[in-house]
Amino acid sequence: MRRAITKFGHAEAVYRCPICSEALMLDQASLLCRNRHTFDISSKGVVSLLRSAPNGSDLYDQNFFEHRTAVFEAGIYQHVSEALIADVLELLATAAKARSRSAPDDHDSGSRATETMRIVDAGCGEGHYLRLVESALRDPDHRHDFEEHNSEEHDSGQHSFGQHGDLTTDLMGFDLSKEAVTLAARGGGEIEWFVADLARIPLLDQTVDCIINIFSPANYAEFSRVLRPSGRLIKVIPGPSHVQELRRAIARAGLRDEAEYSNSKVIEGISEHMNIIGTQSIRATTAVNEVLLRDFMAMTPVMFHIDPEQLDLQSIHEVTVDAEVIVATL
Ligand SMILES: C[S@@+](CC[C@H](N)C(=O)[O-])C[C@H]1O[C@@H](n2cnc3c(N)ncnc32)[C@H](O)[C@@H]1O
Ligand SMILES: [Zn+2]
Repeated sequence: MRRAITKFGHAEAVYRCPICSEALMLDQASLLCRNRHTFDISSKGVVSLLRSAPNGSDLYDQNFFEHRTAVFEAGIYQHVSEALIADVLELLATAAKARSRSAPDDHDSGSRATETMRIVDAGCGEGHYLRLVESALRDPDHRHDFEEHNSEEHDSGQHSFGQHGDLTTDLMGFDLSKEAVTLAARGGGEIEWFVADLARIPLLDQTVDCIINIFSPANYAEFSRVLRPSGRLIKVIPGPSHVQELRRAIARAGLRDEAEYSNSKVIEGISEHMNIIGTQSIRATTAVNEVLLRDFMAMTPVMFHIDPEQLDLQSIHEVTVDAEVIVATL
């Protein structure tokens, strides 16, 4: 069977039916629960696990996602991916250390059972960040800080941390937008991509070690349900000066108040449900020409309901991406 399908081979341990909440198992090219609710896996390795067709916003359309590639390639969000990767690697290194302390070798066989660290990108868009996490896990240069954990890669494509290659990672990404997930799955690979709603995450309770949630809505009840007790949320939210150049241009055109963006409500929302154990403010301002500015405008929610032609684009020569990276536990 093709990899696009077999990567869901462990479904029974992780996925749950979005209709009846029973475990889903791989059955030929579909995921199926005991009540015979069936979800087909596409030839690209994407499965839609929605209870019903999405009736959400169509603002996140193909156009929104396609312009993102140019923006990401220009490095406008590079500081965000670097901070995210550092946090994920740190989490894995901590898990590897904890594991080597708590589970000494089986002296008879000289080996230990493999443990899988599951990382889920909730609201993954077209998969930019999760793919970078995957590359970082493969790239020894990204991991030299953790050399004492002697990482190595398994033939299966899973990535292992830990002295005996006994800690592997399993990467999953989902989004409500089928267009986004279809773009994410382009090029194949080991990541399991699926279409799903944050409000009903099709994963079994306590199966996930790390949720990443970048510039996307959250559902803390669901995050708390699917995270293992030791699990972490890494959430990236806009900081006060995020996209300030466009916000100011929008205010100058009289289309919206310039009021500085405040993320305090979002942070309060997280703290009501989880324990924030770390926050990091990261900010970078990048020069843009008009072509890149137009790509950027097409991919930022700041421009939702705003007509770019009403803005004085000649006055904008740079854009600021200001973000807060928040790490939280249950
Ligand atoms: C601003 S985009 C961020 C995408 C990606 N994390 C990134 O930073 O490139 C917000 C994403 O949240 C997704 N989204 C919105 N509501 C959702 C929901 N209820 N369930 C899953 N995803 C949702 C959108 O489809 C969109 O891809
Ligand atoms: Zn079912």
